[in-house]
Amino acid sequence: MAAVRRAQHKEVASVHGKSIAYYDLDVADFKKLDASLKAAFASVSAIVEKDEIFTAVQALFLDAQMAAALISISRLAVFSAEVAKEFSHDLGLLKAVKTLKYFYPAPVSSVVFSLSSLGSAYSESNWLDFAMRVSADAQVAKLSLRDLCRTSPALTALYKENADFLECADPHAVFPTSNFRVCDGQVNANPDASVIEGVMSTTITTTINIQTGILSTDNLTLYQMYKPIGKCVAVIDQFVEEHWGEKIGAYFAHHGIELVKLIYRAMEADKDISTVETILFDLKKHAVSRNEPVLIVGGGVIADVGGFAAALYHRNTSYVMLCTSIVSGIDAGPSPRTCCDGFGYKNLYGAYHPPVLTLTDRTFFSTLREGWVRHGLAEIVKMAVVKDLSLFELLEKAGPRLVSTKFGTSCPEDAEFCQLCDLIIGKAMEGYVKSEYGNLWETHQCRPHAYGHTWSPGYEIPAGMLHGHAVATGMGFGAFLAVKEGFIEEADAQRIYRLISDLELSLWHPILDDYDVVWESQMKMTQKRGGNLCAPVPKGTIGACGYINDVPRSRLETELAAYKATVNCSAFPRDGKGIDPHCADVGLEHPGTTGVHKKADGSDSEEASDAESRMEEINRLWGKTIGLVEKSLAEDGKSDAVATFMERVKQDMEKVASQL
Ligand SMILES: NC(=O)c1ccc[n+]([C@@H]2O[C@H](COP(=O)([O-])OP(=O)(O)OC[C@H]3O[C@@H](n4cnc5c(N)ncnc54)[C@H](O)[C@@H]3O)[C@@H](O)[C@H]2O)c1
Ligand SMILES: [Zn+2]
Repeated sequence: MAAVRRAQHKEVASVHGKSIAYYDLDVADFKKLDASLKAAFASVSAIVEKDEIFTAVQALFLDAQMAAALISISRLAVFSAEVAKEFSHDLGLLKAVKTLKYFYPAPVSSVVFSLSSLGSAYSESNWLDFAMRVSADAQVAKLSLRDLCRTSPALTALYKENADFLECADPHAVFPTSNFRVCDGQVNANPDASVIEGVMSTTITTTINIQTGILSTDNLTLYQMYKPIGKCVAVIDQFVEEHWGEKIGAYFAHHGIELVKLIYRAMEADKDISTVETILFDLKKHAVSRNEPVLIVGGGVIADVGGFAAALYHRNTSYVMLCTSIVSGIDAGPSPRTCCDGFGYKNLYGAYHPPVLTLTDRTFFSTLREGWVRHGLAEIVKMAVVKDLSLFELLEKAGPRLVSTKFGTSCPEDAEFCQLCDLIIGKAMEGYVKSEYGNLWETHQCRPHAYGHTWSPGYEIPAGMLHGHAVATGMGFGAFLAVKEGFIEEADAQRIYRLISDLELSLWHPILDDYDVVWESQMKMTQKRGGNLCAPVPKGTIGACGYINDVPRSRLETELAAYKATVNCSAFPRDGKGIDPHCADVGLEHPGTTGVHKKADGSDSEEASDAESRMEEINRLWGKTIGLVEKSLAEDGKSDAVATFMERVKQDMEKVASQL
């Protein structure tokens, strides 16, 4: 074992000044680790069969071989590329190693679950059964090894030296704020410390699972996350609660995990800062701790606002995303881009904060309306066109049946089609993550997953369009421009138009006739993208991406007119228009209530009656407040916190009213 370190930072002084290194991890020796794990699992094989759980757990950690293996994992950079490469053949092992880094402060039931994943590779014993028995034992499940050491000198003798070493060498392993992120840094100072150059980084780990039957009581995914904590606070979309609430409740009740449901209406019209504030208020009210992942359940809107609230709460609180719509299931769900709308602009406020676990389960799609399924498909088409030709071909094969069967949920007997649906979801997710996770903080603008999202964000809300239909028009126009740039052949563009049209999405919408709106949108997007348009479009072939940067207004107008002639015509069914392209067509509220006022003639204008829209805002806030008060009073009869909140809202409203 390395000598105990005395200081948290290593400083190297020279005539040039000082340089500071923060962490001191072991150089990975995977052969040695493998041998150590083999020895450990062989040594403890009889322990996992024991009936008495407390003694078994003690014996497990008292085993010298097991202690050596755990200690060596705690000193590894478990989120590094070399660890990922070493365990790439078995992602269950990789996840277990990432989790075991925290074996000392974590609840022993989570540690034993991670050991049970390794156990399947290293041992014949029934580790899963042991893990289930440990997690079901109320006396033991939540204890950490640190707790156990307090009462056992023998355990202290085995682990204390390592814990002291890590306190200086890598505090993440013994005093973590979160088990899902680590920081690093590098600092240089000149001799009189008048100039300091620093570099900082954060590394985040996450897991994505595509499974069916997440809410079946025999599925252990949510169990493993929440049983060791003993409690789950869930932020749930109201419609999802109506359809799935009973099943969600039954799952947690079956497993004896306390469930606190926080339910919100989450339509696009609700995607504003006041919803985020309400969630924050509720998280505080239920004393959510930053290292107990909140469970967010629903579509893209609740993913965005709930994730944003989690990002703000304690500056950073982890969350698990259980996706119930297609958009959340392959795009908004695993996305780090949490946000809400404001003043009529999509996603005006936000934070980069991905979930620690994303779960996509096709079963939920059975209760979606067809129109919602259809618009969700746009995000999959997006990934296919710029990232994955094989996915594009699968979409062509499945066609509009994806909509009519709601991703095979209405025809579970058609195993082949269901398999095709799973493959489409998996590949879409993979394409999305490949685009997004290397550029988490959007530190550059070469972002393939923004295909179709260059012009549409500016007209989606004014047109009252469903996100997917707005994106589909943007994709069609992007493919059209890609031909003009010489990036792809006309035949490729036609194939893209055909797929969009076959899936009943919009190639065309009359809002595209409004050049002012589209130009305005382009200018805003250019500003948002650091002064460049950087519009992703297919390049070379379908499945590969390139960027268009120069589209002056005169060209934009000419191209829009030419695009209209190409797609808004008899060559396509419905003259290139989509089926049910508007929020209102599928029973969703017009999102214009986020700040864009709807004129009586049906068109939208941002200028229209500022005072009226403020008045609407006030009324809406009141409605929410009253709802909240009623809910809180009904829940516990306590009104202190509500009174404070009411006071805040009143002040906010007075501020708005004073501007009228
Ligand atoms: N953060 C990102 O990277 C990202 C990416 C793509 C889209 N988005 C955002 O996602 C939003 C669109 O997401 P969406 O299409 O999921 O919309 P949504 O969340 O509004 O869901 C659509 C409707 O379906 C309901 N619903 C969801 N799941 C259901 C189910 N299983 N059964 C019955 N009803 C269900 C919802 O209550 C809602 O009324 C947009 O606001 C968009 O900006 C964000
Ligand atoms: Zn989108």
